[in-house]
Amino acid sequence: MKEDGKMKVSISVLGCYDNLEESVKKVNNTSANYLHVDVMDGKFVLNRKFPYEIVEIVKEISVKPLDVHLMVESIDTVKKYAELKPEILTFHIEIIKDDEIINYVKSLGIKVGLAINPETSISKIMPYVNSVDLILFMSVNPGLGGQSFKPEVLEKVKALKPYLKGDVVISIDGGINDKNVKVCKEAGCDMVVSGSFVTNSEDYEEKIKKLSIGKRTC
Ligand code: DX5
Ligand code: ZN
Repeated sequence: MKEDGKMKVSISVLGCYDNLEESVKKVNNTSANYLHVDVMDGKFVLNRKFPYEIVEIVKEISVKPLDVHLMVESIDTVKKYAELKPEILTFHIEIIKDDEIINYVKSLGIKVGLAINPETSISKIMPYVNSVDLILFMSVNPGLGGQSFKPEVLEKVKALKPYLKGDVVISIDGGINDKNVKVCKEAGCDMVVSGSFVTNSEDYEEKIKKLSIGKRTC
């Protein structure tokens, strides 16, 4: 997932919920690496978005691999979305008690991501970090697009990085734009999730190019 050293870019279409088909097709025509789908259950976060049937349709339309981010409370809901066989299925450390669900999703041949909220200590995620494919650092409180990036989260990225095996991808989600992507790269992130910075623009590709920075820009 991080072969060429370039920042991977995953586009969140959360802000385009009312014209989803058009936005997914716009992402299809860009160089983005993934399409990020923010599933919310109205319990883990207040909003309720991307029910299973909608993600099924999104998967049909998208030519980009799906990077599904589950902001849900129930392990059964995680299992349900695993049936979609996305490229990456990410759920939150705050909802797990052991590694059973990690092993289950892996057994289906799906890459597993573990997300961590800004307020959660990295000690919580430590026992699992080398059993998953990706760590998703939330750089906003989950639940809403268009919030401001929390730079203090980068201290957690730097603190965790030395404990990770080389092939575990570090992704960061929330408030990402052309102003903060460089510090994310310097802190050790391999991938950024970006919503409003890209989808509020007419020209998605122009914005994506500003996020897809290489080794030499940092
Ligand atoms: C927040 C979501 C993010 C968010 C990204 O709960 O997980 O994926 O929609 O959108 P921006 O880039 O607008 O913060
Ligand atoms: Zn997300």
